[in-house]
Amino acid sequence: MSEKKEKKFTVSSFLDSKEKGEKITMLTAYDYTTAKLLDEAGVDSILVGDSLGMVMLGYDSTLKVTLEDVLHHTKAVVRGCNRALVIADMPYLTYHISVEETVRNAGRLIQEGGAHAVKLEGGEEILPMIKGLIRAQIPVLGHLGLTPQSVNMMGGYKVQGKSEESAKKILRDAKLLEEAGVFGIVLECVPDRLADYISKSLKIPTIGIGAGAGCDGQVLVIQDMLGMYQNLAPKFVKRYKNIGEQIKAGVSEYITEVKAGAFPQEQHTFKISDDVLEKLY
Ligand code: KIV
Repeated sequence: MSEKKEKKFTVSSFLDSKEKGEKITMLTAYDYTTAKLLDEAGVDSILVGDSLGMVMLGYDSTLKVTLEDVLHHTKAVVRGCNRALVIADMPYLTYHISVEETVRNAGRLIQEGGAHAVKLEGGEEILPMIKGLIRAQIPVLGHLGLTPQSVNMMGGYKVQGKSEESAKKILRDAKLLEEAGVFGIVLECVPDRLADYISKSLKIPTIGIGAGAGCDGQVLVIQDMLGMYQNLAPKFVKRYKNIGEQIKAGVSEYITEVKAGAFPQEQHTFKISDDVLEKLY
């Protein structure tokens, strides 16, 4: 008898969830083992974010991440997932030059990487690229508000949408992205009442990170919420576990035991017969 599999979460499930008023859960992952754990725990969607540049590769921003980096990590994540929708982030400069290059790059994330969808940062200025992707049958998740690939233009990682002009631009961009056919929009670091208003103005779901409880779903970077990446502590992160401290405690116990000869013990070793051993002398 075949094993009963849970229904896969798809881009249609994004829209169904919003219609039913069910919140969507999303977390980042960049490797097979973590993706498998998140999928088994029941997360709806996994984002192979370009945040991997910081939390996996140790860069100080996401700008150095390449398509090959995201492709490599996407392949691993996809192998670990059975139910979750896997979304690959398009890195800086992979969707800024032309529609043709954008489609080719996103196509690799889908065709070679096995991702189900891609995410791009930006609004009106990247609309032709988004439309090109959708024409090529590639589902797109938008990303507005604080868009980390624009850190140099924004003058730092700052909350966006506080002024009338900026709030109106985010709202206008959200509506343009919806019209273009994206299946959802990440809203990063925008005031909660703006995110709530945008969420209520759209049919597609919003996925918030630092955007309050009015969004239709939430996303966090897995290393942040499990306390593994300790270089930054953004206000919007809730630390659900302190795995970083547990790792350090486990490793220091291992070091102590190896130095003291307390590890390995009998149960960790393999045996050879006396007969074979004697023949070596
Ligand atoms: O790269 C990333 O992890 C992201 C999320 C924080 C939304 O874009």
